Amino acid sequence: MTTEDLLNKASQPATQDTSRPPHVNAQDYARMYAESVNDPDAFWAREGKRIDWIKPFQTVKNTSFAPGNVDIRWFEDGTLNVSANCIDRHLETRGDQTAIIWEPDDPNKEAALHITYKDLHTSVCKMANVLTDLGVSKGDRVVIYLPMIPEAAYAMLACARIGAIHSIVFAGFSPDALGARINGCDAKVVITADYAPRGGRETPLKSNTDTALLHCKDSVKCLVVKRTGSQTTWTDRDHDCNALMASASDDFAPAAMGAEDPLFILYTSGSTGQPKGVVHSSGGYLVYAAMTHEIVFDYHQGDVFWCTADVGWVTGHSYIVYGPLANGATTIMFEGVPTFPDAGRFWEVCAKHKVNQFYTAPTAIRALMGAGPEWVEKHDLSDLRVLGSVGEPINPEAWNWYNEVVGKGNCPIVDTFWQTETGGHMLTPLPGATQLKPGAAQQPFFGVQPVVLEPTSGEVIEGNGVEGVLCIKDSWPGQMRTVWQDHERFEKTYFGDYKGYYFSGDGCRRDEDGDYWITGRVDDVINVSGHRMGTAEVESALVAHAKVAESAVVGYPHDVKGQGIYAYVTLMNGEEPSDELRKELEVWVRTEIGPIAKPDLIQWAPGLPKTRSGKIMRRILRKIAEDDFSALGDTSTLADPSVVDDLINNRMNRS
Ligand code: WT7
Repeated sequence: MTTEDLLNKASQPATQDTSRPPHVNAQDYARMYAESVNDPDAFWAREGKRIDWIKPFQTVKNTSFAPGNVDIRWFEDGTLNVSANCIDRHLETRGDQTAIIWEPDDPNKEAALHITYKDLHTSVCKMANVLTDLGVSKGDRVVIYLPMIPEAAYAMLACARIGAIHSIVFAGFSPDALGARINGCDAKVVITADYAPRGGRETPLKSNTDTALLHCKDSVKCLVVKRTGSQTTWTDRDHDCNALMASASDDFAPAAMGAEDPLFILYTSGSTGQPKGVVHSSGGYLVYAAMTHEIVFDYHQGDVFWCTADVGWVTGHSYIVYGPLANGATTIMFEGVPTFPDAGRFWEVCAKHKVNQFYTAPTAIRALMGAGPEWVEKHDLSDLRVLGSVGEPINPEAWNWYNEVVGKGNCPIVDTFWQTETGGHMLTPLPGATQLKPGAAQQPFFGVQPVVLEPTSGEVIEGNGVEGVLCIKDSWPGQMRTVWQDHERFEKTYFGDYKGYYFSGDGCRRDEDGDYWITGRVDDVINVSGHRMGTAEVESALVAHAKVAESAVVGYPHDVKGQGIYAYVTLMNGEEPSDELRKELEVWVRTEIGPIAKPDLIQWAPGLPKTRSGKIMRRILRKIAEDDFSALGDTSTLADPSVVDDLINNRMNRS
């Protein structure tokens, strides 16, 4: 089937469920969108009331994208507590309803847990007391390095209750990456666990944390959750979370926080330098996470919602914890991986817990598609209503498989484009309101004003059937506020290239109907299995190895991961390339950054294509990695054009 056939075939909207009209239909969308951009104050004044305020806001929007004065504030004079919004306000109406269903890594060893809103309240208060006793107070930073266990949610919400700022580090990151983040935000406490079971294997989180802490201040305390109970080391800075929680009080008054007080920092990769600490607010972020969760997934009370992400990524923050819990939903927290114990795990969990909305990444869909439809068909998926996709463009083949094999043609697919920086969905179809197009993120969410710019001139490209870089014209409440302690970097990164606009870093196309298609990053960021990787980070890890003189890293198309990591490596004089060295470098990058950064292909490069001024011509390296030499472009400006022939002849990606 051609892409065209796939598109035609799939453009039939999923059957509408008449028993339950969507929150927003096509007419509502048009009307509400117009209001959201024409009168943002009125629109967001109303939406701001989705959450409970201790002191109601008077001012709604006070934002500027002006060069040199980027300043973003929403609901700035209101006060609230995010944890009270996610827990306390539900206690009266749904205290006994399940808030979190925890699904363990190995279903044959452990049973799922059902944590009610009352239980959640108890545990979060206890954890807040434990953190307070360790000296954490309002505004302090707490790093969370945990498996996908309920304590991760308790820790997030306990920080929010105190008014402390959490910074989660994905449990797949290495000790070095963890240490850099602990130091980066000057955390007082790091919360970890003994081990993290995943896919039947165990990552030694506590020992990783010990290693990380060798490079941190002595005063940093370590709160350790028992997950597996296996042996770990124990030092003076360590505190036993389970024991402390057992004796802690189950009462903790939520702090009144300003709407603009930071809720969390999340480190993310960019095109240059080390990862930056993206800072999200309390008020605007929560309003946006709650609203998008309800409307984009057409979440209705009583539904069971499952986002398969890890809380180490922004998707887990907004759509496992904050959005769903603010809405009083039942949210699933999954510790495992899609293929363990077998390739039917996702569908087994969907059937077991009668999941209504299921949200995952194209890389997982492609991997499961490869395992065959029988793994899906074994399980009863009749409760599914809406399917979601996030992290990278979804190819039409994967879209159709998701639609037909998983959704049985009855579940609209929402292809949600957004970023760590945006806090919540930016471009997405809405179930029941949008005629779906496989592979397109389609239309802006309320308040989001996308513009397509000509990449070099920065001119706005009007009209349909156009392509360029994706920028956003005005602020929305979920937007990041700054880079942690580096507002200048914030302005430079996101507002430096195109004055007056937020620059996403992505290219996009606006088709003849005005629908948006994301064409991928236009900077030196690659997207590996829906995870963002700065090529500069992998390069700096490689050159930190004693035998490596120089390196250039690019992405290349990968069947399952979307993009793979292709590294060109120039060795130090006198070092010989070998398969052992290749292995050694792979292990090296894993330990420097984490398994997700491991290069898929390493090519020995006696020389890299450079201009006479010494700039590496990545365009050429990308083409070679893509196995496409027809369009290498002009190589005459290279200092030594012959290096290109050597790279082509020795490429790793032969078709
Ligand atoms: C980058 C952001 C917050 C989502 C998880 C990743 C790419 C994300 C889509 C989509 C096409 C997408 C973009 C974006 N991306 N969703 N639906 N269609 N591309 O968050 O790590 O901050 O990465 O992921 O390139 O810039 P992230």
